[in-house]
Amino acid sequence: MKKIAVLLMAVMLMTVVFTGCGGEDVPNTDNKDKVASDLPTIGIVQIVEHPSLDTIRENIIKQLVDEGFIDGETVKIDYKNAQNDTNNLKTICQSFTANNYDLIIAIATPSAQAALGETTEIPIVFSAVTDPVGAKLVDSMENPGGNITGTSDAVSASKIMDLALQITPDIKKIGAIYSTGEVNSVSVINELKQYAKTKDIEVVEATIMNSSEIQQAAQSLIGNVDAVFSPIDNTVASSMPTIVDVLNKAKIPYYVAADSMVADGGLATDGVNYVALGKATGSMAAEVLNGADTATMPVQVMSDTQIYINKKTADDIGIKIPKEILEKATDLSE
Ligand code: TRP
Repeated sequence: MKKIAVLLMAVMLMTVVFTGCGGEDVPNTDNKDKVASDLPTIGIVQIVEHPSLDTIRENIIKQLVDEGFIDGETVKIDYKNAQNDTNNLKTICQSFTANNYDLIIAIATPSAQAALGETTEIPIVFSAVTDPVGAKLVDSMENPGGNITGTSDAVSASKIMDLALQITPDIKKIGAIYSTGEVNSVSVINELKQYAKTKDIEVVEATIMNSSEIQQAAQSLIGNVDAVFSPIDNTVASSMPTIVDVLNKAKIPYYVAADSMVADGGLATDGVNYVALGKATGSMAAEVLNGADTATMPVQVMSDTQIYINKKTADDIGIKIPKEILEKATDLSE
């Protein structure tokens, strides 16, 4: 008897739903989650998992919480990772726009480019885009001009090379391992080439299209260069152990562009703090959720840098880091 009553109630309830009383409330499959929770929805898209991007994402979310945007309570957060595949990026961004999310947070250059490729309406806040103008995301850093703004990690090849020449002054030939498909890398490499010219250093390029080419690229430089440099490259950052293994065995100093790449075995960098960058991105996202206009919100450039070294790598390859640098550097080998 009890069972029947329950069944009957269920049938009645379904009838109410399917006859669609109150037209607006009819669940539309596309928009199901949003309607069900009735909370603003944020889509977070990240190109690939590597320690730096993960740190950024965690701190964006932390900052959003601090500003009252709590997943499941005041907002809904849908996080997706593209496993370094551009087709995945496109599918993810298409689903965010099809579901008419309220905000897209795009972590790293390729994600931001994919998001903007799908919508010129939904606001996008990007994070850690090295060269937003070069990547054609904004008209200018001061006046983005459209539905997109965010934070930039102003990576300087010159600063990193100044440090490299203090640690290993005899660099005559420097290898450059990077992805030709990442604008963020290409713009830093262009700066490296300018710098190298002024110091009479030859740049030997070892470019890659995807992570499967990394080992071969690193190998091609052995015996041919005095040091190797990598810019802020997502593909390189997600395959550090492979490169470090090849270069450390050959005792070649490897200068990189991010703290996480030093933690993963690179010798040294003069780089941005990504905890601070993540928090700054979270604040900008909160402003946009509160109604600010992306078109007139300047891109925030994180230009404060710090020296990071890996003492274990230095010991392994037999390099002595000068005392003046050791004193101000953070050792990430522990
Ligand atoms: N700046 C990179 C971009 O524009 C993203 C990035 C942030 C990154 N931190 C990193 C890349 C550390 C490599 C390593 O896409």
